[in-house]
Amino acid sequence: MSIWRKKPLHILLAESAESEKGLKRTLTAWSLIALGIGAIIGAGLFVRTATAAAQNAGPSVTIGFIVAAIGCALAGLCYAELSSSIPISGSAYTYTYATMGEFLAWIIGWDLILEYAVGAATVGIAWSEYLNNLLVTVLHTSPIPYEWCHSPFQTSADGVSGIMNIPALFIVAAISLLLIKGTQESAFVNGLIVLVKVAIVVLVIVLGWQFINPVNHATYIPEPSKYIDDSGVSHSFGGIMGILGAAGTVFFAFIGFDAVSTAAQETKNPKRDMPIGILGSLAVCTVLYILFAHVLTGIATVEDFRTTGKEASIAFAINKYMIGYEWLGSFVTIAIIAGFSSVILVMLLGQSRVFYAMGKDGLLPSFFSHLHPKFQTPYKANLVILVIVGLFAAFIPGDIVGDMSSIGTLFAFILVCISVIVLRKTEPDMKREFKTPLVPFVPILGVIVCFAMIYGLGWLNWLRLIVWMVLGVIVYFSYSKNSSILGKKEKE
Ligand code: ALA
Repeated sequence: MSIWRKKPLHILLAESAESEKGLKRTLTAWSLIALGIGAIIGAGLFVRTATAAAQNAGPSVTIGFIVAAIGCALAGLCYAELSSSIPISGSAYTYTYATMGEFLAWIIGWDLILEYAVGAATVGIAWSEYLNNLLVTVLHTSPIPYEWCHSPFQTSADGVSGIMNIPALFIVAAISLLLIKGTQESAFVNGLIVLVKVAIVVLVIVLGWQFINPVNHATYIPEPSKYIDDSGVSHSFGGIMGILGAAGTVFFAFIGFDAVSTAAQETKNPKRDMPIGILGSLAVCTVLYILFAHVLTGIATVEDFRTTGKEASIAFAINKYMIGYEWLGSFVTIAIIAGFSSVILVMLLGQSRVFYAMGKDGLLPSFFSHLHPKFQTPYKANLVILVIVGLFAAFIPGDIVGDMSSIGTLFAFILVCISVIVLRKTEPDMKREFKTPLVPFVPILGVIVCFAMIYGLGWLNWLRLIVWMVLGVIVYFSYSKNSSILGKKEKE
């Protein structure tokens, strides 16, 4: 029984046609772009930008955004080819199953947990930061006690230790329940939130521009040095390594445009709409991010983002420096709280669809693919995900889950780029509605840029990725390999 067995393409495509009877096809190109932007603009921009400026790059975090965008565009072109030819649930996992065999598909499916589930936890934690900001600066009430909105691995400046992040857990649970009710309703709410989210980004750029203090941009790329954070972890600050580290960190802000591809099975015309959805949402966000980061690092200082402005950094910068615009601070806080909810929604949606596909293939227990009799959603998968994401959100600090999510996604992107090259060789005649240009250069360049960002994230994150993947290999050989439907068919 081979761990390299591939899921034949004709079976995948037949399953895609069959899916008319399963998940409902309700999404159009516009709802996909909205879904993409809904997933994309979130904690990466509103929280991780300041972290990257503080720990890695200062104002040159904008260059980090450019590097990350290049990596995403290259991988996005590869995603678009795959998702327009294999329009079926499961994203990179499914593509890999058809191209590089079961074991690598498992590896990528396992890795995608870092992207979607751990990513959702990261945004949940950021949501909790802004909720506290809402309570204190907008509603003028007391904050949630430090110990109940931080992980046990965090300690406040005055020595209080975190116990559990209850708001983060709450939001993840609430959105999981919403998702069980159905994608169509959720996509509608998402559309409204996307509008508000884009509006605040544009407002901050336009109104904040006049508050840029040229002193803060005087050394745009800081001299290379080391920065030791509160937990004693050393980061490369300044220079090329600083920019690469920042790129790896803010890469989180782009995570999600590929989540669009996981909704292929629910798209009316996936062959046309997928590439538009993926690349369209990526393009809009890139422009906004670069401008936004430029304004943010111009308004506040690196020192701010290392100390008092570490949490809820955007509201902090507005309230401290944009005198007369306190209303914007309040609006941003409320909008971010709503905006983060839509990101969590798309991440959880992506994760449940990957688990759904893996459950159908027998690599995970079959209950992952059970659909709710009334809502037609994979509700059991949603409930398991609620537990996994809830644990990460409640007990692990945001910086750690954020970087784990970045590195996991970068690894997935690398495999997707390689898949395009392999599939062109093994399935040259397959109908491709959208073709990645300049193969193999685009995929190879994609691999190089994503790898550079992985390098920039530092050895602690490499170690976390390796440990996670080793765990995945153990699960594969002790369970999935034997329960694989394809494997069972092989034996017959
Ligand atoms: N891109 C998403 C965010 O920044 C995951 O929150």
